Amino acid sequence: MGYLAKYRRKYGKSFMAAIFFLTIEALGDLLQPTIMAKIIDVGVSGRDMGYVLRMGGLMLLITLIGAVGASARNIISSRVSQKFGTELRSDLFRKIQSLSFRSIDKFERASLVTRLTNDVTQVQNFVNGLMRIFVKAPLLCIGSLIMAARLEPELSLILAVVVPLVGLLIFMNMRVGFPRFLKVQKALDQVNRVMREYLSGVRVVKAFNRFNYETEKFQEANAEYQTRSVAVMRAMSIFNPAIMLTVNLGILAVIWLGGIRVDQGQMQVGSIIAFINYMTQILFSLMTISMVFNMFVRARASTARIGDVFAEENPMTWKEEAAFASAEAKGRIDFENVTFSYEGEGGEPVLKGITFSCLPGETVGLIGSTGSGKSSLVNLIPRFYDADSGTVRVNGRDLREMDPHQLRESMAVVPQKTVLFTGSIAANLKWGKEDATREQLERAAQAAEAAEFIEKLPEGYETKLGQKGVNLSGGQKQRLSIARALLREPDILILDDCTSAVDVETEARIKASLKAYSRGLTCLLIAQRITSVMDADKIVVLDNGELVGIGTHDELIKECRVYQEIYRSQIGKELHADVNA
Ligand code: GTP
Ligand code: MG
Repeated sequence: MGYLAKYRRKYGKSFMAAIFFLTIEALGDLLQPTIMAKIIDVGVSGRDMGYVLRMGGLMLLITLIGAVGASARNIISSRVSQKFGTELRSDLFRKIQSLSFRSIDKFERASLVTRLTNDVTQVQNFVNGLMRIFVKAPLLCIGSLIMAARLEPELSLILAVVVPLVGLLIFMNMRVGFPRFLKVQKALDQVNRVMREYLSGVRVVKAFNRFNYETEKFQEANAEYQTRSVAVMRAMSIFNPAIMLTVNLGILAVIWLGGIRVDQGQMQVGSIIAFINYMTQILFSLMTISMVFNMFVRARASTARIGDVFAEENPMTWKEEAAFASAEAKGRIDFENVTFSYEGEGGEPVLKGITFSCLPGETVGLIGSTGSGKSSLVNLIPRFYDADSGTVRVNGRDLREMDPHQLRESMAVVPQKTVLFTGSIAANLKWGKEDATREQLERAAQAAEAAEFIEKLPEGYETKLGQKGVNLSGGQKQRLSIARALLREPDILILDDCTSAVDVETEARIKASLKAYSRGLTCLLIAQRITSVMDADKIVVLDNGELVGIGTHDELIKECRVYQEIYRSQIGKELHADVNA
């Protein structure tokens, strides 16, 4: 995996240090059985107490050195794996932030969460395991093989049969495990998705008494997760006993053949014990290898999932020198025969052949029935998405040449769905402009008709929102969202149906103060109510993704059938409200 190279470079040294201490630890383990054989064959058989004590002391010393190696290795491996995990997680987080909307749609949000949490943890655990046992196991395994072969070359023929057999079992284990672990992670995605959806819609769930339905949905996802986890465990569970059986049969063969050789006087009892000791070490190291391979298979599935995110290229390109436009084009927006679909080229278009312009300083209304493509159209202006064909120009420059980051600096969007973040009101407003002064905050709040209710709150601008803080009404949130956008002092202001939760009277006041506040900026105003856009310089009428009318209210009311219909269906009650306002 390419993205792991960076961490390999960074943590390679510490990793090698851990492996060094691990080697000391393993060497200690390797020497023990041979010394043991010596004690039995020389010391005990020869009744030489001095020899037994000397060798016993040596064993103790080796154990001590091994223990020091183990502690050092433990400290290093914990530190390295923790640091690595933290860094991988924050790198991934940064990458996710840089993804285009299309990519985020593709991965799904819940899956991105699992990747950021569970998948990273899997990889982190594996790295930790790698430094703990994985390298030790092959060391022990190969070392034991060599030591055993040196001790009794004839008996090691048995090893020549047992080891490849076990190797084959481990290989099969991996082949079986990998696709199943991928499925387990996918099932976990689903559990996350259901939970996320439930939490974000908890009020609706309660209001509609859909508790049982949601519980069922969760249980379904949970059961699926269980089924898949069990399936993978079941598939894997035959391998460990099979490995155990193979090695134990090998041990049986050693005892049997060894017994015959001891009878014939070709071999000593101590050697058989040592040989069996080595064989058990081989067994245990093979078992840990297969265990770590399981971890590896899991981690590989996770690494692949993380790698997919890292590999996701932002398809948006731009030219570095995209300097900003001349003064006369500042705030100008042009759509030229724009066609767009969320699936990319070839998908079902939600915008078809749109052509119109907003001149600098103009207020352009955008109206059309729900689902007609209004939000989709304005999504193209900050380059959230790129058009499939046709050209969108801002400040007279083709968006495809512009750095989205720079582009967004000069505009502010009030999205249809208000989003505020946990934190104080002031902190939320300052999203628009980080270094805004108190005066600027108040001016923007005033223009959005939010100042009044903010000042009434016990802690004013320092009132905490969200989670444990106060919850505002829908209309109050919308007004904060407008104030946040105004604070930015943008050249282009996009208001997507942002007064839908505000009463007509307040809306009229907001619009009046907006005019005063926003002199000179281009304003794109989406609205459901015809009264909201009636006095705009220009109104664009969308129907089913197509532009069916453009002009002032007076022109449209004469010529545009769709506009007339909207007018007729609303004006009965709206006209009344308008008079009041
Ligand atoms: P209202 O906000 O209800 O007034 O509608 P709108 O005019 O803003 O419509 P919008 O642009 O949101 O939607 C136009 C079409 O695009 C609809 O058919 C939606 O189903 C579709 N659409 C909107 N958002 C998405 C999206 O994120 N992904 C996909 N695949 N389709 C979308
Ligand atoms: Mg919309």
